[in-house]
Amino acid sequence: MDYFEYRNGELYAENVPVADIAAKVGTPLYVYSRRTLQEHYEKIARAFAPLDPMICYSVKSNSNTALLKVLADLGAGFDIVSGGELFRVIRAGGDAGTCFYAGVGKTDAEIRFAIERGIYMFNVESEAEFETIDRLAAEMGRSPRCALRINPDIDPNTHHYTSTGKKESKFGVDVVRGEEFFRRYRNARAAKLVGIHLHIGSPIPTAQPYVEAIGKALSLIDRLKAGGIPVEVLNIGGGYAAWYESAQSVMIEDYAEAIVPLLKDRPLKIVMEPGRFISGNSGILVAEVQYTKTGGDRKFVIVNSGMHHLIRPPLYGSWHFVWPVTPGEEMTPPDRSRQVSLAGLVTCDVVGPICESGDFLGQDRQLPPVSRGDLLAVFTAGAYGMVMASNYNSQPRPAEVLVEHDQFRVIRQRETYEDLVRGEG
Ligand code: LLP
Repeated sequence: MDYFEYRNGELYAENVPVADIAAKVGTPLYVYSRRTLQEHYEKIARAFAPLDPMICYSVKSNSNTALLKVLADLGAGFDIVSGGELFRVIRAGGDAGTCFYAGVGKTDAEIRFAIERGIYMFNVESEAEFETIDRLAAEMGRSPRCALRINPDIDPNTHHYTSTGKKESKFGVDVVRGEEFFRRYRNARAAKLVGIHLHIGSPIPTAQPYVEAIGKALSLIDRLKAGGIPVEVLNIGGGYAAWYESAQSVMIEDYAEAIVPLLKDRPLKIVMEPGRFISGNSGILVAEVQYTKTGGDRKFVIVNSGMHHLIRPPLYGSWHFVWPVTPGEEMTPPDRSRQVSLAGLVTCDVVGPICESGDFLGQDRQLPPVSRGDLLAVFTAGAYGMVMASNYNSQPRPAEVLVEHDQFRVIRQRETYEDLVRGEG
């Protein structure tokens, strides 16, 4: 579960009233719970312990260095997709030697930086990229490990923007090209091709697509072995869901039950890249009501945050639970479901200040009546929230705060107008 709960009619992050944080730090504001982050990391590590996997937190889901430090201290490795993410891991005190570097467009400068810092492995997404890594590594006199990212051509049943394992996807290499790829590059000059990487999409709410994808990867590994080509590492990617409609975690044990037996007796080093499962429930976005108004038969609650801080609702049609921070005892929601059964709720759209009709955090919501100055919390906003925030309409990005027990600290200052124009002119 997460540690954002209502006590006596007001929302707490661990043991701190969210309204107190907002009063001190201002809004809009991301608030994270350290305990939630830690427990989710431990939960996935426990569920998959029979495989003794390297758990490489997907930095793209939330890359604040304070969060990366918490995870590095717990023993996590990292899934990175840019030189910038590698820089963040190092800045947070993480070990470059635990990083797996994926991404279809790695530049020469990024590849050199990663080789220089000694990352654990490149997840290679094309023939041309492998040749580039090999050439640069030879120039540097180094021998980086590589895994081939394959497309198992599985439909993960998620939004088509975040489905990545179909053969027509821009990621990886069609699985039928896998054998040829290994034969061609196994004795490359410098880079060592020793692994296979999968990541079929995100979020994937059931284990079945993983089972199918891992099955295809294992049969490729068996074919390669029969041809005298050993594969040492299998990276099964990320995509494990977060719970948007409850304070409970998704049952990571259900994924483990289906996946562990497939891999337990294989002489492979297993790697996982969970992002959202660890960071999703660990954060909320707090916004302040500016105005309420009506338009035709719709009611709008206008807040000081929106698509520029959390783009998931308009971009993917994602649903996040929204509720006042201090609703009082009678309006405390019994759960975070789509239908909250309380008397006196008002149907409204929660919208932001951005000059686009797609700027909403929630539509057709049943909320307690609110007025100017009230705070609203948007739940399960720890993953793909702040990392996808922008300065659109010249709106400074929110502050971020990390709560631990009854303490909190600012882990990213609110942007100022000066920050908006830094480097311009
Ligand atoms: N590994 C690779 C290679 C990935 O591309 C991703 C996510 C992950 C791991 C982590 O996936 P996770 O465990 O966090 O689901 N912005 C979208 C999600 C995009 C995911 C991109 N890749 C969203 O807000 O839903």
